Amino acid sequence: MATPGTTEEQTATGTLDITDSRTGQQQSIPINDYAIRASDLKKIKTDDPEDVGLVSYDPAFMNTASCRSAITYIDGDKGILRYRGYPIEQLAEGATFLEVAWLLRHGELPTQQEYDQFVHDVTYHTYVHENMRTFLHGFRYDAHPMAMLCSAVAALSSFYPSARNIFSAEERNISIIRLLAKVPTIAAFSYRHVKGLPVVYPDNSLSYVENFLSMIARMTESRYEANPAFAKALEVLFILHADHEQNCSTNAVRAVGSSHVDPFSAIAAGIAALFGPLHGGANEQVLRMIEEIGDVKNVPKFIEEVKSGKGSRLMGFGHRVYKSYDPRAKIVKKLADDVFKVTGVDRGLEIALELERIALSDSYFKERKLYPNVDFYTGLIYRSMAFPTDYFTVLFAIGRLPGWLAQWEEMLLDKEQKIARPRQIYTGYQERDYKSKLTSKK
Ligand code: CMC
Repeated sequence: MATPGTTEEQTATGTLDITDSRTGQQQSIPINDYAIRASDLKKIKTDDPEDVGLVSYDPAFMNTASCRSAITYIDGDKGILRYRGYPIEQLAEGATFLEVAWLLRHGELPTQQEYDQFVHDVTYHTYVHENMRTFLHGFRYDAHPMAMLCSAVAALSSFYPSARNIFSAEERNISIIRLLAKVPTIAAFSYRHVKGLPVVYPDNSLSYVENFLSMIARMTESRYEANPAFAKALEVLFILHADHEQNCSTNAVRAVGSSHVDPFSAIAAGIAALFGPLHGGANEQVLRMIEEIGDVKNVPKFIEEVKSGKGSRLMGFGHRVYKSYDPRAKIVKKLADDVFKVTGVDRGLEIALELERIALSDSYFKERKLYPNVDFYTGLIYRSMAFPTDYFTVLFAIGRLPGWLAQWEEMLLDKEQKIARPRQIYTGYQERDYKSKLTSKK
């Protein structure tokens, strides 16, 4: 079935002819690209002078396109994900994360010269101001790393006040480079802080992912050599997470960015949205769920609790858009095998496989089209690589960063976009007079 945005030169023009039963009036609403403009509904109104016209009511944006975007294409029924037209399977197989970051922003794969310059720029901006180190040092030893990342990225805005000049292409470019370069450094510094370890400064002779692993794990070695299987797995995981069209955090970045705030603040909003357990935080929750189940023999009881609504949801299952399978989950499952060859099979794998097996054959999950999503197996990989559970969503955030940035810039340069400001259906009191209930006031 054709869906909005199926092809670039989407047309499918026509009209939606509506008869308003309240007035008997007929209206023609243009249809373009399988969509009507909600603002066209405004002209459907009664004679009541208070009536400002119809609005569309769509809590959680279940069926509302908020933008036109040329970045990422998803067909949820067929399990298709493409960045700028390239299938995710091919990018995961052959591209580097920075190549994908360039592609998402610029729309085309980089030439060698463009790529070399881009890698150089990102590499040479990895250092953060020393005050950022002391800022992170102010957090408690048990601070959640997503809270640290979110605040530190917001704080970066104070280090680069010229980033507020968002309509300068040069300023946007340097801000994007700075974010791509410094977020892994901040993330790694947060990790070391929680562990009580001294921070490791970036090593510019290493690749993006190897440098990140070095800042995480280096101890006394003069140069850290990441396990190639780990570096490869992380590179692929970052690529799989790099964009996912108008998900909750991207929508947050676009909405906050639409007020024309600087990109550091807009990205901090995306990180905050990603933190939630229904979004990026699900990877952390999957592991906690597996730990709670404890043994494969407890899986059927757990599934029954999920179905009865008494227990939690089956974390790592279900998706707003994918209704057949999540193509990222397929790649992650294969990746887990590669990592387990090095680390040994994670103790949670047996439970995860049993959860998947039962859920996929159970009518509750089948009827609701609930399948494993990207978060179902990533936690097992991260744990095998010795990342702490509450750090998993930080890894998702590093991966998602290029997508947020590309979507932020696309929103800014889109002439149709304005400050995001939805309407509401007011359900509160009509006017009433103020009569205080207090007997004393300070
Ligand atoms: N376990 C059990 N039941 C579920 C689940 C689940 N994981 N997900 C949805 N349902 C049920 C839900 O109870 C509802 O049933 P009913 O119709 O009887 O009320 C039905 O399926 C539809 O659910 P919904 O909440 O209307 O669906 P949604 O599109 O609003 O939610 C979701 C999508 C991803 C938030 C949801 O599936 C969920 O909470 N999954 C678990 C959390 C998770 O894994 N999140 C990561 C998403 S993928 C990575 C990312 O993009 O962040």
